[in-house]
Amino acid sequence: MPGVILVGAQWGDEGKGKATDLLGARVDYVVKYNGGNNAGHTVVIGGETYALHLLPSGILSPGCIPVIGNGVVIDLGVLFGEIDAIEKRGVDTSRMLVSSAAHIITQYSRTMDNVTERFLGSRKIGTTGRGIGPAYADKISRVGIRVGDLFDEELLREKVEGALEQKNHLLVKVYNRRAISVDEVVDNLLSHAPRLAPMVADTSLVLNQALDRGETVLFEGGQATMLDVDHGTYPFVTSSNATAGGACTGTGVGPTRINRVVGVLKAYTTRVGEGPMPTELLDASGERLRAVGHEYGTTTGRPRRCGWYDAVVARYANRVNGLTDFVLTKLDVLTGLEKIPVCVAYDVVGVRHEELPLDQSAFGAAVPIYEAFEGWTEDITGARTFEDLPAAAQRYVLALEAVSGCRMSVIGVGPGRDEIVVRHDLLVG
Ligand code: IMP
Repeated sequence: MPGVILVGAQWGDEGKGKATDLLGARVDYVVKYNGGNNAGHTVVIGGETYALHLLPSGILSPGCIPVIGNGVVIDLGVLFGEIDAIEKRGVDTSRMLVSSAAHIITQYSRTMDNVTERFLGSRKIGTTGRGIGPAYADKISRVGIRVGDLFDEELLREKVEGALEQKNHLLVKVYNRRAISVDEVVDNLLSHAPRLAPMVADTSLVLNQALDRGETVLFEGGQATMLDVDHGTYPFVTSSNATAGGACTGTGVGPTRINRVVGVLKAYTTRVGEGPMPTELLDASGERLRAVGHEYGTTTGRPRRCGWYDAVVARYANRVNGLTDFVLTKLDVLTGLEKIPVCVAYDVVGVRHEELPLDQSAFGAAVPIYEAFEGWTEDITGARTFEDLPAAAQRYVLALEAVSGCRMSVIGVGPGRDEIVVRHDLLVG
């Protein structure tokens, strides 16, 4: 069962780190295929909490080779900062591989992110400010800097000059900022080159050869389906393909080599940043989910917007990713609620929608149609089999399964790594 993709099925922060950790020692390679240090995985191992932004979570599993694929954008300062921080805690990072075709987030990518957000004013996206969008914009405009460019100073300088030519005009004349110096950028990038060199590889070749040997490769999606640049709530999205298709383009591994596609979602919904979210709760129920679920961003610390489970979003995620399994996380956060509403369809100006409306105005106008399920009061964190769950919790999970289009194979019942119920094995079940 070698090729497994793990994607977020909502707006991110679903607990993908926990799902990766669950597969842990059984995975030979964990490859990140999109996004950059806008992500944030929190993994709790042996009572220690690790907040990873750029490093694949496989870095914490001994014996697993972490890979940064070509679809990722890399801020080298952040990469080495994270490596230093976890090495200090005794984690070995020497196995890590980085694609020579991955793009670099430069100083000017970060500057452009911040100035454009400010310029957009009330139309801002609410980005993480890490330079993600501008780095991908440069990639698509064919003026990006790739990892491999760092090892040819002349070529690098030429490319940085080309990339800055237009941007400096914009910065000075439109945004009233100082121009960015080519030398400064080039020197900064070159300063990382010696440390980066031993990690750089043709990661597409490495991963395909691993699959040929029957080894297991986990493709770890950053962000989530509803933040995907093509399939998410555009323009309130990130700038990469977070959905399952991105795993192929972002690593150089073809779709026929993928055996499982696992969607991770919470037993309720959260979102950070701007954009529509039909089930958002602006009342005490939302506050309760935020407080009990500790819903604050790992990367920016922003409070997350909270709401009930949205089965229309789940069904859409099932469809656009071709899911084989769901991992349902944070069921324990719902313990103590008398009734638990689940959004089963939308009302858009009087018309019932079973499927997600694709245009921005219709989705923005979607009003959830709820069905309420009976809650439970028993502590469920000790449950290890489905039968250990109270009857009402079992009915809630089965109801979600019925309206979401795919089986719920794993259920998270608490924050610890062993606080899970496994109904079907993600690799062989
Ligand atoms: P960017 O990825 O920094 O450009 O931000 C674009 C949108 O994606 C914003 O709404 C961010 O809050 C959101 N976003 C980016 N990364 C994550 C993540 O890992 N979890 C949740 N939201 C994210």
